[in-house]
Amino acid sequence: MTVVLRVANLCVSYDHPRGAVRAVEDVSFSLRAGERFGLAGESGSGKSTIALALLRLIKPPGRIDSGSVWLDGANLSELSEDEMRRLRLASIALVPQGSMNALNPVLRIQEQIADALADHGAMPLAGALDANVRDLLGHVGLPADVARMYPHELSGGMKQRACIAIAICLRPRVIIADEPTSALDVVVQRQVMATLGRVQQELGAAVILVGHDMGLIAQFVDRLGIMYAGRLIEVAPIAEIIRAPRHPYTQMLIASLPSLRGKGMMQGIPGLAPLLRDLPPGCAFHPRCPRAAPRCREERPELREVADGVVVGCHFA
Ligand SMILES: Nc1ncnc2c1ncn2[C@@H]1O[C@H](COP(=O)(O)OP(=O)(O)OP(=O)(O)O)[C@@H](O)[C@H]1O
Ligand SMILES: [Mg+2]
Repeated sequence: MTVVLRVANLCVSYDHPRGAVRAVEDVSFSLRAGERFGLAGESGSGKSTIALALLRLIKPPGRIDSGSVWLDGANLSELSEDEMRRLRLASIALVPQGSMNALNPVLRIQEQIADALADHGAMPLAGALDANVRDLLGHVGLPADVARMYPHELSGGMKQRACIAIAICLRPRVIIADEPTSALDVVVQRQVMATLGRVQQELGAAVILVGHDMGLIAQFVDRLGIMYAGRLIEVAPIAEIIRAPRHPYTQMLIASLPSLRGKGMMQGIPGLAPLLRDLPPGCAFHPRCPRAAPRCREERPELREVADGVVVGCHFA
């Protein structure tokens, strides 16, 4: 299958008075056309930083240190800022984390969609805008009168769908949705995910879904990448991750999923996520790992392919 997006050895840091911290370290993965890929991991593991870096939206004190991102064969790091601006939304769109709270409170939804279109020189001819906006809202399951409403008149789920409508207004090939359902109740979460899934199919776009709700992500994606302390530590088809998680951290994440069978036996992951400025040597997970051996304290495991399409960064996988 054709690869639409390829990320190679991406490294991103944030400068800080006490020294820079590496939020994303040597991350590589690719996304196939029409694929649903998930990025999961604890808070602070670098998921949103990757999402922003893919669109070259990292702002100071952050910076992309190295690595490259190819979209449809074009190396994004070689594009001018202007070229990059045109590409965003048109080819690769982001529904940023917390975006539903970042809708402009004084603009009607229609005006916000029109702004996005105008920004990309894609303003429909006078008269066609209404139909265009209605069509977009229809795509995300919102009634046409939402066009004339302000964000405060919408529920959380409706706002989140409005954000998806803005993201897809130019029919991008890749949609990145960063925690699109946090702060929504479970019923609305399912509706928003169903909307995202439908839109993805209608557009034939590939989606990167970022989040930490493993249950929700698992139901949506084809393949999943697990992040720990800025690194990808496992990437595999979702069925493989559920059936046979290889990395001890992934195993603990899966074990912590509530299940009806094991009612009352939910397990957490002991210990805390490490501080990026003070990462343990060797494998960053070793202080929390039940299988840690002396080697894990000294030698950082590289990602290795252990089965077809399954890569894992653990000495013992
Ligand atoms: N603007 C910033 N300035 C300084 N440090 C930052 C900035 N943004 C993120 N970081 C740091 O980078 C690391 C990764 O953050 P990031 O937001 O990518 O994590 P995340 O996996 O998306 O977390 P969450 O699940 O909470 O959204 C964190 O340690 C965070 O403190
Ligand atoms: Mg985030």
